[in-house]
Amino acid sequence: MQLLTGQTLSFAGNPFDMPWQEAARHQTDGAVAIDGGRIVATGSAEALGARYPGAPVTDYGDALIIAGFVDAHVHYPQTAIIASWGKRLIDWLNSYTFPEEMAFGDPGYAADIAARYLDIALTNGTTTAASYCTIHPASVDAFFTAAAARNMAVVAGKTCMDRNAPDGLTDTVASAYDDSKALLEKWHGKGRARYAITPRFSPTSTPGQLAAMGALWAEFPDCLMQTHLSEQTDEIAWVKSLYPEARDYLDTYEEHGLLGERGLYGHAIHLEPREKDRLREVGAGLVHCPTSNTFIGSGIFDMAGLMADRQRIGLATDTGGGSSFSMLRTMAAAYELSQLNGTALHPAQLLWLATQGSAEVLHMSGEIGNLAPGAAADITVLDLASTPAIAQRQARADDIWEAVFPTIMMGDDRAVRATWIAGVERKAALEQSAA
Ligand code: GUN
Ligand code: ZN
Repeated sequence: MQLLTGQTLSFAGNPFDMPWQEAARHQTDGAVAIDGGRIVATGSAEALGARYPGAPVTDYGDALIIAGFVDAHVHYPQTAIIASWGKRLIDWLNSYTFPEEMAFGDPGYAADIAARYLDIALTNGTTTAASYCTIHPASVDAFFTAAAARNMAVVAGKTCMDRNAPDGLTDTVASAYDDSKALLEKWHGKGRARYAITPRFSPTSTPGQLAAMGALWAEFPDCLMQTHLSEQTDEIAWVKSLYPEARDYLDTYEEHGLLGERGLYGHAIHLEPREKDRLREVGAGLVHCPTSNTFIGSGIFDMAGLMADRQRIGLATDTGGGSSFSMLRTMAAAYELSQLNGTALHPAQLLWLATQGSAEVLHMSGEIGNLAPGAAADITVLDLASTPAIAQRQARADDIWEAVFPTIMMGDDRAVRATWIAGVERKAALEQSAA
């Protein structure tokens, strides 16, 4: 048994569905009790200190203890090409992404980048990521192996593409099915790993490949399925030309068995009414990738409208189409984009999206995403005065929301005091080895 003390923030409900005052639970002198890698209790430092006398205490003072960030859509193989200049989606894929992804046939390179990505994520307070890999099975083994070494709960899958990608970066209908099935059987449910069947997006799969992925998902309905949907208008026009029979972009997935509750649809910006209806009816997960949507020039995700429509939404960096590994920066971008759309998201809503909201779309709530008894002790500790600029603004704050908002808007990895994975602090050791 051990205790972490500081300010604590957890969620009793969804702050998009109820007043944030009811949804969020903040405690100034709070504590989290951890045993066997799990949270066993939250409460006041005084009460938990009395309940567990003699338990070692890590005191974080004024820092804010929250659930670890859950990044619901990343491409770990794009780590080394983040911040590549000057292209929109299709040109960006062809110029930067596909050439880099070719290198992941080399298991050594894949292992290096998987380790690099996960260490950067941990440094930024991200405790779970749902990642695309490349077409190479070795890229999937590398990611799950690196995550297991850090005891991180991750979601990942082999990216499948059998057209409109360079030679050397395509599979086939049969190999996509066989390789995905073998990887799924190897990794899904092993330790903290979960498998996501991963057709990249409709333009890089033939109808036959989408159908094979749909058949595989029907065989393993407990797996997640991740793909991209309606990110850029040029992309949507291309999808319509490649699938002339489809009613809309989502229909290319729906017709092939790739629409479901455990489906994750990245971006989902330019949705048609029928697409919204179907996504809501099945309870699919939409994943908002705000830094990517501005960086690649994709458009404005309608957070307020889609939430009012009762869609299920998570938040993600979309590294390396996204321009940051930080979920703080990602919340800031979500705030800014929502402002452009006429709605100011409350800090409680932003923090919920980055933790519980993402955990829900990954179907991992209860396990991750909240400071709650029974959940894994995957915890991030935020220093609310990590730079002089942030410190001077938060010194004026009247409540926790005003105190945390400057860190959301201006914070980066320096604001992450500690990152705990299943009850073990992992950030300090990384910083020591880097020093
Ligand atoms: N659509 C298909 N592949 C990708 C990708 O790698 N990144 C982004 N942002 N969009 C995509
Ligand atoms: Zn993506």
